[in-house]
Amino acid sequence: MSCPPWCPNMTPMDLFIELFAGLPRQGPGNEPCTSRALAAARPHLPEHPVVLDLGCGSGSSTRVLAKALEATIFAVDLEPRVIAQLRDEAPRIGRSTVLPVLADFSKLPEGLPDEAVPADLIWSEGAAYNLSFEGALTAWAPLLREGGVLALSECCWLSEDRDPDAVQLFEAEYPSMLSAEELDRRAVELGWELVEAFNLPDAAWLDAFYEPMEQRIAELRWPWADGPGEAVLDGAQAEIDLWRRTKSCWGYRFLVLRKTS
Ligand SMILES: C[S@@+](CC[C@H](N)C(=O)[O-])C[C@H]1O[C@@H](n2cnc3c(N)ncnc32)[C@H](O)[C@@H]1O
Repeated sequence: MSCPPWCPNMTPMDLFIELFAGLPRQGPGNEPCTSRALAAARPHLPEHPVVLDLGCGSGSSTRVLAKALEATIFAVDLEPRVIAQLRDEAPRIGRSTVLPVLADFSKLPEGLPDEAVPADLIWSEGAAYNLSFEGALTAWAPLLREGGVLALSECCWLSEDRDPDAVQLFEAEYPSMLSAEELDRRAVELGWELVEAFNLPDAAWLDAFYEPMEQRIAELRWPWADGPGEAVLDGAQAEIDLWRRTKSCWGYRFLVLRKTS
């Protein structure tokens, strides 16, 4: 077998992007969960809402929102490859206008067109942890109109009985990670109305995320055997294995929050 054309010049970071950008989604979640959260948000939205999908990745949630709403959706991500993919796909998906924006969501509204703010709905699946839960709520509130909705999914502890390997991982990767109860409580303490909250089921991890990732890891293995990128593939597989073994004590929670005055 010869090396694929992208192999010789790729760095481990290129491999990381290759692994994730080619997946149906880049974090846990699925269409039923997006739809459930959207159903809770919907009574608080105008007929033609302005939506920000922050950390949209390859657009898994963007597509669900675009089909369900007659909206203008600004799909924001920092990764040029996923924004280029979304731009190619279609300016119009479903009944909505989708406008992919390459921007850093920690610096918004910088990079957004004027008409994007204030938004009626901010959506963010699996990306808020980059700012921490409280950091995201604080940074994104000014982008939302009064009474608007913030729907986000966030990694959290699900039990006090915590596996030591999971504790070690999250102490290194996400030391400020809260429990499910703390997420709900902190949101309310920060002035948000808790409209809906639920934990993601196993199918939301497996169907469009971990199972396709395992297949992709297997495809990428041979060109990277004994190479510098092997650790990237090993790390991704180790995360999947850890989730399978310890998922009773950590997971993702979807919160639908309404901005109150
Ligand atoms: C775990 S992925 C989730 C992607 C997508 N929402 C999904 O559920 O499939 C997190 C995404 O957030 C993006 N991201 C991370 N930090 C960001 C930032 N500061 N500004 C914009 N996007 C960011 C990453 O590039 C990545 O696409």
